[in-house]
Amino acid sequence: MKKESIAKAIGYYQTEYEGLFQEFIDFLKIPSISTSDKHKGDILTASEFLVKKLNDIGFDRVEAIQTDGHPIVFGERARDPQKPTILLYGHYDVQPPDPIAEWVSAPFEPQVRDDYLFARGSSDMKGQIWALISALQSILETGDLKVNIKVLFEGEEEIGSPSLDKFLEDYKDTLKCDLVLNTDAGMLAEDKPTVTYALRGLAYFELRIKGPKADLHSGLFGGVIDNPANVLCRVVAKMHDEKGRVTLPGFYDRVRPLSKEESESLAQIGVDEAFYLSLSGAPALSGEEGFEPIELTSARPTLDINGIYSGYIDEGAKTIIPSYALAKISCRLVPDQNPDEIRQSMIKFLEKHVPNTVDWELDYLSGAPAYLAEDDVPGLKLFENALETIWGKKPLKKREGGSIPVATSMKEILGVDSIITGFGLPGDQVHSPNERMHLPTHKNGVKALINFFLSF
Ligand code: BES
Ligand code: MN
Repeated sequence: MKKESIAKAIGYYQTEYEGLFQEFIDFLKIPSISTSDKHKGDILTASEFLVKKLNDIGFDRVEAIQTDGHPIVFGERARDPQKPTILLYGHYDVQPPDPIAEWVSAPFEPQVRDDYLFARGSSDMKGQIWALISALQSILETGDLKVNIKVLFEGEEEIGSPSLDKFLEDYKDTLKCDLVLNTDAGMLAEDKPTVTYALRGLAYFELRIKGPKADLHSGLFGGVIDNPANVLCRVVAKMHDEKGRVTLPGFYDRVRPLSKEESESLAQIGVDEAFYLSLSGAPALSGEEGFEPIELTSARPTLDINGIYSGYIDEGAKTIIPSYALAKISCRLVPDQNPDEIRQSMIKFLEKHVPNTVDWELDYLSGAPAYLAEDDVPGLKLFENALETIWGKKPLKKREGGSIPVATSMKEILGVDSIITGFGLPGDQVHSPNERMHLPTHKNGVKALINFFLSF
């Protein structure tokens, strides 16, 4: 029976593919960038788009729920209280498309080239939301969905999910579920279905070094007035030592070391030096001494400048001492580091290292702890089987270096671990220019989801 329903749903997906694809394009065209207030209206449009779509495919209850930030789309389709309830997570916001000049086709005018669809959000993660919706629609139009479904699509993931914890607390009963499927991670390669059991956390800062009240002539004042750009460079340079370790006080105190077994199992998944060199195009790898690349990107914490600005950066020479310098700095955190402690540690570091010739200000933009799943994530076995049915091989298990704050929040507030997966690929250029989605892999993802939803 199940086999028949699966075949019918997949058949529907294949015949209706063009229509679904056109709708997906419309969804991608909405520039739902959460970072800047300029796009508040677009975020709203994207949330309304999802509300309509969920209603159209037969959800019983769909609502866009207001938060202090962007709305959360909640939907429910429940038939049989004896059957389990799956909570599906997604985010409909996207990262800013900058630097725009680097895009071959415009970020919000999706374009297919070869096997790829290029657009901001195509992979991270409107494409993943669309895979969920395509699978659900295919099932609902052809048969009988036994399992109960709830969806939570947020619009603030890319800015650290600031409204989410309160929402989870307020709607704890509404969100009650047996398992969570979060498709915001990805696969290691198109032939390597993957599930993720750990994510890094994040502590994000904006540091402003303030000197003279306006830019000054560097001939008249250079020599006596300290230069905020020089100071910023000196200070951030001290944040790492020569072994690549972060020097914020106590930074590593709570870092949980990898067990020998886990190091060995991570070594099996083929994420090596060549993997990072070819994906990044960088001339050589760097990082904390004594760890393998896969460990450095998923089980060790980092500190990175995400943006740095000061003074004159247009064409030609301009001789000034800039009035201020600014850096956006983020730390990726691992279990059991605490974002608030990292913030305190950053403050202590600055108190010690910024000279009194300038003033400084530190904004804390967002913080989220890392995530590590228990061994028995509800539903994981069934999901792995679904992946195996489509790809013909057992999925790999990995730690992910990116962050998805909701996973930890749901574990803490709803008390449930998440199946973390997705159908994006390492080469998708997420957060970068020319973000893309591999269409054949996406199609396989939809088929795997159909299998999964029909396996209850
Ligand atoms: N989908 C990503 C996280 C991710 C990327 C997982 C690649 C697996 C593979 C997510 O949308 C993301 O980018 N999150 C932000 C969160 C942050 C702003 C708190 C991140 O990791 O930078
Ligand atoms: Mn992202």
